[in-house]
Amino acid sequence: MLVVGARPQFIKSAPVIREILLNHKKIRLSVVHSGQHYDAEMSEIFFHEFRLPAPTMHLHSGSGSHAVQTAIMMKRLEGCILHEKPDVVLVPGDTNTTLAASVTASKLGIRVAHIEAGLRSGDMTMPEEINRRLTDHVSTLLFAPTRTAVRNLRREGLAKMVHLTGDTMVDALNAMISQVERKQDTVLAEFEARAKEYVLVTLHRPSNVDDLGRLRKIHLALQKVATRMQVIFPVHPRTRARLAKLRVLRNDTKAGVRLAEPQGYIGILCLLRNAACLLTDSGGMQKESFLLHVPCITLRSTTEWPETLSQGANRLVPEPEKIPQALLMARFSEGLGWGILGVRNPFGDGNASRRIANIIERMPLE
Ligand code: UD1
Repeated sequence: MLVVGARPQFIKSAPVIREILLNHKKIRLSVVHSGQHYDAEMSEIFFHEFRLPAPTMHLHSGSGSHAVQTAIMMKRLEGCILHEKPDVVLVPGDTNTTLAASVTASKLGIRVAHIEAGLRSGDMTMPEEINRRLTDHVSTLLFAPTRTAVRNLRREGLAKMVHLTGDTMVDALNAMISQVERKQDTVLAEFEARAKEYVLVTLHRPSNVDDLGRLRKIHLALQKVATRMQVIFPVHPRTRARLAKLRVLRNDTKAGVRLAEPQGYIGILCLLRNAACLLTDSGGMQKESFLLHVPCITLRSTTEWPETLSQGANRLVPEPEKIPQALLMARFSEGLGWGILGVRNPFGDGNASRRIANIIERMPLE
């Protein structure tokens, strides 16, 4: 049983689902959607783009405080797991869905396999850091995306459970890159944007958007950037709600910051691949910009993907006041991805999903 529920989990899981369905007929897979994300552009679109079958079960858990959301998911997942009796529960990433599924399954004595195990930002104020640490420690199979992740797990005494598989997001990117190439001109035309002449912005971390004072500073910085170059900002629902409170949603086209709806996977990759640089607080986008050689400025003081910092391809800039200068400098730097560095891609060779499916298929059944 694979449990997903939030946007990045659909992307991380898509190549694993496809691999199992196409090449591992011995595995009976059920996909449970917790319902953490429910808007079409936060959920359905990814099933459509990756041509995935609809989830086997949908728990419609929805939004709420951390405790409420996690508790509702755990309650519904317990019934689901008791009914399905899976041999293993697969959980990708570090969201509240990941935590709810891993704790519920492990307490029912069901094995938990964590996709994207071993990431550490070291920042326990991030809900994701809590989720990923707890999940790793109740798991029996840890699928680590990088060597750094393997080292982190070893340090915590979890070495025996670890498999270095590579990152399934590389598999996802490889699977979709030809569609991105075909669609990018249309997407750029929709945004009236020219390749390498705009900054792409994505922000959704509570630490950046929940504090309205900080969000106002970030917004002011973006307006400043917009006087020099186009800013395209697809807005996450959490951020949209906070920007509405600042009453900036309507005025922004005039200010030059182009606000947009959240994009699907292909849409966001089209925008990223052609951006002059990226400003983000997302983990996945830091990595995708690295893979696509687009310079990245991360509006945080820590990252769970330290490999992206090599050679200045990604820079941590936590201070909103420093955004304009950092972006303008990044714009003129070369995109320093792994290919340009001439080193092996630290995120794997694009076969992570196959390795994960093979390990699960060979897992002894008790
Ligand atoms: C969650 C994950 C985060 C991940 C992010 C990707 C946790 C703790 N956080 O954060 O790790 O990077 O997803 O997007 O699990 N909302 C909608 N429509 C939706 C979903 C949410 O309007 O389809 C709104 C609701 O007002 C909700 C808020 O967004 O309260 C936040 O959603 P939530 O799932 O709690 O956290 P994210 O910020 O999306």
